[in-house]
Amino acid sequence: MKRTIGILTSGGDAPGMNAAIRAVTRSALARDFDVYGIYDGYLGLVEGNYTKFNKGSVSDILFKGGTILGTARMPEFVEDEIMDKAIKQMEKVGMDSLVVIGGDGTYRGAGDLCRKGISCIGIPGTIDNDCPGTDYTIGFHTALNTIVEAVDKLRDTSASHHRCSVVQVMGNHCGDLALYSAICCGAEIVVTPEVGFSESEIIRRLQHFDAIKKHRHALVIVSEKLMDVEALAEKISETTSFSGRATVLGHIQRGGSPVPYDRLLASRIGDYAVDLLANGATNRCVGIKNDQMISTPIAEALVQPKEFEQNLYDMFERLA
Ligand code: F6P
Repeated sequence: MKRTIGILTSGGDAPGMNAAIRAVTRSALARDFDVYGIYDGYLGLVEGNYTKFNKGSVSDILFKGGTILGTARMPEFVEDEIMDKAIKQMEKVGMDSLVVIGGDGTYRGAGDLCRKGISCIGIPGTIDNDCPGTDYTIGFHTALNTIVEAVDKLRDTSASHHRCSVVQVMGNHCGDLALYSAICCGAEIVVTPEVGFSESEIIRRLQHFDAIKKHRHALVIVSEKLMDVEALAEKISETTSFSGRATVLGHIQRGGSPVPYDRLLASRIGDYAVDLLANGATNRCVGIKNDQMISTPIAEALVQPKEFEQNLYDMFERLA
């Protein structure tokens, strides 16, 4: 029987999602499967908002940020009635399988659909790098690049004015963007949800740098949702000789053309996801570990805590 695969993106968009959509589509078409692009995540599935894809449907998207399919967060996609509606929409066109690109919320929806007999494979697409079952998510390296470029610019002005830049980066309860960017930018201090940091400790360290006249400027990178960076910058101005300035990088981190690493990762992962479906696998999410494609049962991935790279953090501390 001819396989028909639907593909959707869900949750926050990430650079490289389009490259993954292209890879899944072309890999499936090369195997003579039919492919449907589903718009706006699970919402589009429930509403039957999908279109049949051919090779040309995914031309000229490899290098584009965002997702041509659109995305949405749909917390109500846990209710039986809503999932049954989605399955009915799939049946209309003989769609038997889904490839879903997103984070853990996206995987959860796929896992539930699998329990209802739909074949699903999850692809990690989020800038946060917080998906279990993979060393890196699609979009992480591009967001990291965006942060590094922004901080390099901030450093120019910060150094000229003997200031301390406090930069808030994204990473929904995952400190990877903060830690990696802190290493790449030579930050003095990094604040991540895994390790944390007290305000008094930050001030004490800055006063120390100040006292030994080691620094013309300083950089503190803070993961979002942990502290008020404006208040911290003010405190720095009041208690150290640095003048503090806060910058919240915000959604700029989610945009832009994917860097080559993300294009390559998305292409490999997309092709591998289709390979798994072709070989009868389901209810698994795909990832990269030690540069090898791997897959993990979705349920197992969802309960695995994302490992924090303590050795990388310790290295940061030695180098700061
Ligand atoms: O999950 C990606 C992410 O960008 C997080 O880093 C951030 O906390 C969240 O999405 C922001 O969500 P929204 O775009 O809905 O404001």
